[in-house]
Amino acid sequence: MSSNVLVIGAGGREHAIVRSLSMSPHVARIDVAPGNGGTAGEPKTRNVTPDVLSDVESPAAIAEYAVAHDIDLVVIGPEAPLVAGVADAVRAVGIPVFGPGESAARLEGSKKFAKDFMVRHNVPTSAYYVFASGQRDEAFSQLERMGAPVVIKADGLAAGKGVTVATTLDEARAALSECFDGRFGAAGDTVVIEECLVGPECSVLCFVDGETVVPMAPSQDHKRVGEGDTGPNTGGMGVYSPVPMVDAVTYGTMVRTMQEVASALATEGIEYRGVLYGGFMLTSAGPQVLEFNVRFGDPETQVLLPRLRTDFFEAMYACATGKLADTTLEFSDDLKGVSVVMASAGYPGSYETGVSITGIDDAEAIEGVQVFHAGTTRDEDGTVRTAGGRVLNVTTLAPSFGLAIERAYEAVDRIDFEGAFFRRDIGQKAL
Ligand code: AMP
Ligand code: GLY
Repeated sequence: MSSNVLVIGAGGREHAIVRSLSMSPHVARIDVAPGNGGTAGEPKTRNVTPDVLSDVESPAAIAEYAVAHDIDLVVIGPEAPLVAGVADAVRAVGIPVFGPGESAARLEGSKKFAKDFMVRHNVPTSAYYVFASGQRDEAFSQLERMGAPVVIKADGLAAGKGVTVATTLDEARAALSECFDGRFGAAGDTVVIEECLVGPECSVLCFVDGETVVPMAPSQDHKRVGEGDTGPNTGGMGVYSPVPMVDAVTYGTMVRTMQEVASALATEGIEYRGVLYGGFMLTSAGPQVLEFNVRFGDPETQVLLPRLRTDFFEAMYACATGKLADTTLEFSDDLKGVSVVMASAGYPGSYETGVSITGIDDAEAIEGVQVFHAGTTRDEDGTVRTAGGRVLNVTTLAPSFGLAIERAYEAVDRIDFEGAFFRRDIGQKAL
C-alpha cells in the first residue's frame, strides 16, 4: 500500500510527526498544512500554502482538500481543529483520521466538561467549582472560602494561557476578574476554580483507538521560561523522557487511569481515535489528573517519536481505523531523550521574526541529535529564518541522561541566530 497523508499543524510536534512518517515505506506523499521550514525540507513532503488551504481549522475546507488530493490518512496535530470538528468532517467523507472528533475533544476544549467527566468516572483529580459569568459574586465568595493557593481556569481554549496558579488571594481575584472581563473572550465566560495540588508533574501519552490503549514512556515538560522554573509560563521550554523519579508502580497507576478514561469514553458512546495525553500531578496521595490533551504534546512528541522503532504510518493508520490491537508499537525504552527549545528573545512576550538561522546541519552531525523546527520558514535558496516564539527543538537520544544533555547543549551551541535564548537546565531533574 502506498499512501498519501495530510498533516495539519505548523509546530515542532508536526515536524517530528512528519519526519517519522516520511521514514515509512508505505508513505508516498505527505502534505503539511501549513507546515514550517523544517517540514518543507523533509523527503516526500510539501507544505500546503495558504492560497491553496487558507483555513486549517475549517472542517469543510480540510475534508474538501483531502478528497481532492487523494489523501488516505489525515493527522491533526493541534487542539483547535480537533475542537472545531475537523476529524468528524473528514470521517464523514470516508477518510480515516488520526485525532478524535468534536465530542471527545471537549476533554481538552472545556475544563468543565473534563472535570465533570472525571467525577462521573471516579478519575482522581482535585476538587473544583464551576461558575458562569452571571455568577460573579458566587465565584468571588468561593475564592474567599478556599483561600490561596488556588487555581483559576478559563473553561475554553486559551492557547495555554488560561490557567493561573495563584499563590495569594489578590492574585486569584485578579485572575478571576480577567476571565470574567473577557481577557480570553468566550473561553473565559465559564470559570473553573480548583483546589491547588502539589508535587512534580508528569505526562503519559497513549495511543487510543476506542478499545486498545498503548501507552508511551512518561515525560516531563519545563513550562516556565526561566532556569530553575522561574518566570512566566510558556508553551514549554524543553522536555525529557523517561522520568526516573516515576517508579513502575506510579507509572502503572497512571496507565491504569488512562485505560479507565478510554473505557469511560466508550461507555458514554464517544469514539476516540488518536493520542490521549494525561497530565498528572504526582501528589502524596498518588497521581491526580491535572488535564487531558486530545493530541500529541508539544514538545513531548519530539522526545517520544524518535524512540519509535516500528513503522509510524502503520501505527497511525491502525489507530485511525480501530485496529491498534493488530499492530506492534516498539520503542527504544533504553534510550534517554532530551529536547531543548531555542526561542526568540522576548518570548513568551513579543519578539522579532525573519532572523536567519545557521548551524542546524552542524548540530545534526552530532551523534543522536535531531533538530525539529517550530517557528521557522525556509527561503527558496534554503535559508532558514525565525517565524515564531519557539523556533527550534534540539533533541538528543543517548544511553544516559548525562550524555543526552551534554550532546543536546553541544548541538545548541552550534546553532546561531540573533536573539536566540534557551534554558541551560533542561533535563537536570533526571540526573
Ligand atoms: P492545565 O492546562 O489545566 O494542565 O494547567 C496548566 C498547568 O497549570 C499545569 O501543567 C500545572 O502546572 C498547573 N495546574 C493546573 N491545575 C492545577 C492544580 N489543580 N493544582 C496545581 N497546579 C495546577
Ligand atoms: N506540552 C504541553 C502541551 O502540549 O500541551
